Amino acid sequence: MIYNFSAGPAVLPEEVLRQAASEMLDWHGSGMSVMEMSHRGPEFMSIMNQAQQDLRDLLAVPANYHILFMQGGAIAENAIVPLNLAGLQQRAQPATLDYVCTGSWSVKSIREAAKYGKVNVAADSAAALASQKLSAIPAPSTWKLSPDAAYLHICANETIDGVEYQFVPQADAPIVADMSSNILSRVINVADYGVIYAGAQKNIGPAGLTIVIVRDDLLGHALPYCPSAFNWKNVAENDSMYNTPPTYAIYIAGLVFQWLKRQGGVAALEKINIAKAALLYDCIDTSRLYENRVRQDCRSRMNIPFFLKDESLNASFLSAARERGLLQLRGHKSVGGMRASIYNAMPLEGVQALVGFMRDFDDEHAVSAH
Ligand SMILES: Cc1ncc(COP(=O)(O)O)c(C=O)c1O
Repeated sequence: MIYNFSAGPAVLPEEVLRQAASEMLDWHGSGMSVMEMSHRGPEFMSIMNQAQQDLRDLLAVPANYHILFMQGGAIAENAIVPLNLAGLQQRAQPATLDYVCTGSWSVKSIREAAKYGKVNVAADSAAALASQKLSAIPAPSTWKLSPDAAYLHICANETIDGVEYQFVPQADAPIVADMSSNILSRVINVADYGVIYAGAQKNIGPAGLTIVIVRDDLLGHALPYCPSAFNWKNVAENDSMYNTPPTYAIYIAGLVFQWLKRQGGVAALEKINIAKAALLYDCIDTSRLYENRVRQDCRSRMNIPFFLKDESLNASFLSAARERGLLQLRGHKSVGGMRASIYNAMPLEGVQALVGFMRDFDDEHAVSAH
């Protein structure tokens, strides 16, 4: 049995891959592969509408929000967000854009946004990391929010650092959340946010599709030089068909949404995700060999980075894991160590297999770590 712990592109439900394989050459008797269909034809329109409705159901997206299927990934949204929202707050020129920095992906968002407005880093986790040697989200009471901010941007789950919000921030400005690596993993109240965006390739489907959920009153404020294909209002008015959408990625995402519904929806998945994360953190915390460097109340349920206290064992850990069918556990190159990404499609059995292996490896090697 193979278990794939990649951070993204990541494991997809086997059922979905099998269904896609069986429909590859001839979708529902149409005589065409989904890849060969006109995006405006009735077959693909039915796939797209169903996918959109299923996502709306799964996240209980209120009627005053648009769901957009875009391209460019979350990194493009780092520019698309200020391009669409910096015009919101007319009083300040250039617009003030509030960002909370909780790790590597926040840093990228901030750098990009600085091209389009005056970025105020309202809080930065780097200070806590330096003093406590633990990553953590700064307490909201310490955040220095701007009174005239066009929006407040957060990264809901830092895929590299393994830091996840377990609360919804409060702000007068609309909250924009990068949920690339935790969308659909937990129940959220969409109305708490002005905009939610996510690249699909972690918890949804193949790379190439970006989901944007945007409140209607936030459409129509784009800066004049915002590219037309990136103007949310344009995309919304054209039902995500202003340009050709990533049709096959939308089709697979749609199959994943139906799979999620069959599992009992987001609340059912959240329960399993809590159990999976608890199992792995417990293994790390009670071991002699491993450590996680994130404060308990900010630990991610989706991406769990850990280090071997004796780093000289890294290579043998990875090769022994591979022999047991446990793949893609190497940590991100910027932080080193290991990382297990355990998205919705990772079954509990996969985490049990990983924990079983880690305990065995701990028993064999812990002596040399002391
Ligand atoms: C939280 C987060 N934001 C942004 C990105 C960048 O997304 P993309 O490569 O799809 O542009 C990623 C991962 O790749 C991510 O995990």
